[in-house]
Amino acid sequence: MRINILTLFPEMFNIFNHSIIGRAQEKGIIDIKTTNIRDFSNNKHKKVDDYPYGGGAGMVMAAQPVVDAIRSVKTSNKGKVIFLGPRGKKVNQDLINELSKEEELIFVCGHYEGIDERAYKYFDMEISLGDFVLTGGEMAAIPVIDSICRVVPEVLGREESFTDESFYDGTLEYPQYTRPVEFEGEKVPEILLSGHHENIRKWRRQQSLLITKERRKDLFNKLKLSKEDKKLLEK
Ligand SMILES: C[S@@+](CC[C@H](N)C(=O)[O-])C[C@H]1O[C@@H](n2cnc3c(N)ncnc32)[C@H](O)[C@@H]1O
Repeated sequence: MRINILTLFPEMFNIFNHSIIGRAQEKGIIDIKTTNIRDFSNNKHKKVDDYPYGGGAGMVMAAQPVVDAIRSVKTSNKGKVIFLGPRGKKVNQDLINELSKEEELIFVCGHYEGIDERAYKYFDMEISLGDFVLTGGEMAAIPVIDSICRVVPEVLGREESFTDESFYDGTLEYPQYTRPVEFEGEKVPEILLSGHHENIRKWRRQQSLLITKERRKDLFNKLKLSKEDKKLLEK
């Protein structure tokens, strides 16, 4: 997958040179490149922002450098242009899974008070991290890109799987334990030490359902419960 990020702060994305995404880049599974929007400014001082018409606090990113940066990146990346912004569709795992199937994507990060409205027609989609305001689109692009990349085939090693993680099947994850068997007087549930794979599977499913029901009624109400699920919940 090829990802281009348009930003005023390219160095913030050095984070992707590390850990799982760093390894995926080394293997050539993922290719993440940044483009500095400032390089496209027509202003002789490379200024990219200006005062808002109509007054008000803060500065607004001008349309020209943003649009020219998009045009330039589009010559080598034919993917959707995604703007990270608080007015967009809220990100969830379904959207992440959908975007992970794309071969190419372009992300645009806003800053200051946002971007001149006339640049918006160059975006195919606007997505938001949630109902809160961040200092910049970079802060939203990092978790979104990380989440997309980790579900791209072969990015996670065989020992790391996302199919039994929270949200994959609409539930929250079951409790996890590792050594030692006893920590501060609390023991690992007996069933996990039994070696009985089928009973462990059922216990994990039951815990997943119960946790989702208790903590996220909105997700639980959307689940299509199987006969086995109903039985596990009755137990
Ligand atoms: C300080 S914010 C601008 C907020 C804008 N004035 C408003 O009230 O909607 C600067 C940039 O951060 C990014 N941003 C802020 N909140 C976000 C969110 N919830 N999700 C995604 N991006 C966000 C956008 O790219 C935005 O242009």
